[in-house]
Amino acid sequence: MILVAEPAAAPLRGELTPPGDKSVSHRAVIFASLAHGQSRIRGLLESEDVRATAGACRQLGMTARQNGNEWIVQGVGEKGLQAPQAPLDMGNSGTAMRLLAGVLAAQPFNSELIGDASLSRRPMKRIVAPLGLMGARIETAAGGRPPLRITGTAPLRGIAYESPIASAQVKSCLLLAGLYASGHTTVREPLPSRNHTELMLPVFGVPLFGDCGVTGGSRLRGADLRVPADISSAAFLMVAAALVPGSDLLLRDVGLNQTRDGILQALRAMGADVSVLDPRRFGGEAVGDVRVRYAGRLTGVDIPAALVPSLIDELPVILALAAAASGTTRLRGAAELRVKESDRLAVMARGLESLGVRLKEYPDGMDVEGGSIDSGQVDGAGDHRCAMSFCVLGQIASGAVTVSGCENIDTSYPGFVADLSGVGGNVGPDVSGGIAAEAVPEPFGKAHGQ
Ligand code: S3P
Repeated sequence: MILVAEPAAAPLRGELTPPGDKSVSHRAVIFASLAHGQSRIRGLLESEDVRATAGACRQLGMTARQNGNEWIVQGVGEKGLQAPQAPLDMGNSGTAMRLLAGVLAAQPFNSELIGDASLSRRPMKRIVAPLGLMGARIETAAGGRPPLRITGTAPLRGIAYESPIASAQVKSCLLLAGLYASGHTTVREPLPSRNHTELMLPVFGVPLFGDCGVTGGSRLRGADLRVPADISSAAFLMVAAALVPGSDLLLRDVGLNQTRDGILQALRAMGADVSVLDPRRFGGEAVGDVRVRYAGRLTGVDIPAALVPSLIDELPVILALAAAASGTTRLRGAAELRVKESDRLAVMARGLESLGVRLKEYPDGMDVEGGSIDSGQVDGAGDHRCAMSFCVLGQIASGAVTVSGCENIDTSYPGFVADLSGVGGNVGPDVSGGIAAEAVPEPFGKAHGQ
């Protein structure tokens, strides 16, 4: 799918609530499925990634219905999952695959997890190795890639795992497996990754063991929760407001968990005007309304490696922002970007270069020289966050920026085009001809074939 972004004709103004947090939504669906009794989840992200998790949980026996903005999930209890009749398709979602692998490794039945072309290239050894230490039996394709063929093994053994990488997916996978293991399972990591699992387990009645551990045999009970708006989706609008002169945007109910708020720190360090209004909590999660006002041209910064886990998913849009700032932005310690939905360092480097940006790519980061942004054609490479980043940058380019490879935006931010357009941004489907043009509805509701 191709989108065309053009310079915004006027400041971006208004307020909106970005869609629900993707990480919190995956976890809410999984925990509710494993719980005894009913859970009510408000504000769940209804994106393709979360649908993949919910679809798999349904295949395992969970039932759910929707009542307006609320999902009502009937859990089966942690021991009540049923053997799936077909492979579980995780689509584009690494979170879905890695978290569910932790649950499935401990079941008394076999299962298979598959994914799309992007997910099928992503590394799974990071979970298969520690799950193996717990006694799990998982076969992968060559190089430790999906599909995952899991031979159900109960019970697993609890472990104290020192993770070599800061990864919430690895941590959460092991904590989920640990619910089924003997004794305690604890995870330590080099830098703190997002802690939604640790915050949500107690909401479902499971106390943590230490800071980041669980005790095998813990029982989950149904819970009511409200999902904050996703700071990672809000980031595109924050950056757009920081870029387009005169802008003033208010983003409501944004999740401000300290393990996720690096984007606010980066924006402020670059000179943006960012304020948080009405700080509050949805369950264990910090939430606030975020106002971003245009504050002139921003300045490049060094992004400390220690900050990387707290803005890992925002780095593509931060690199786009850096391209329009004055001076150099230096990013290091972000090698993980190479194994996300795409090699995000490579995809952002190629796209920014096509728009005339000077940069130097490193194995674990990039130096970006800020300057003016040319019009041009870039490839989002089927990576939702890269594609949205280029659309945002197009708001201040010298002319049209045509972004191919936008088809996966719905995995995390269905409604992105409508939300950005709704506050005055200039982005829409390519109507210049070809296949993309056919997908655009006829104006004025004219029926096809007339
Ligand atoms: C996620 C964790 C992050 C993040 C991903 C979602 C999660 O990955 O990039 O989009 O929900 O646990 P890692 O922490 O595994 O790097």
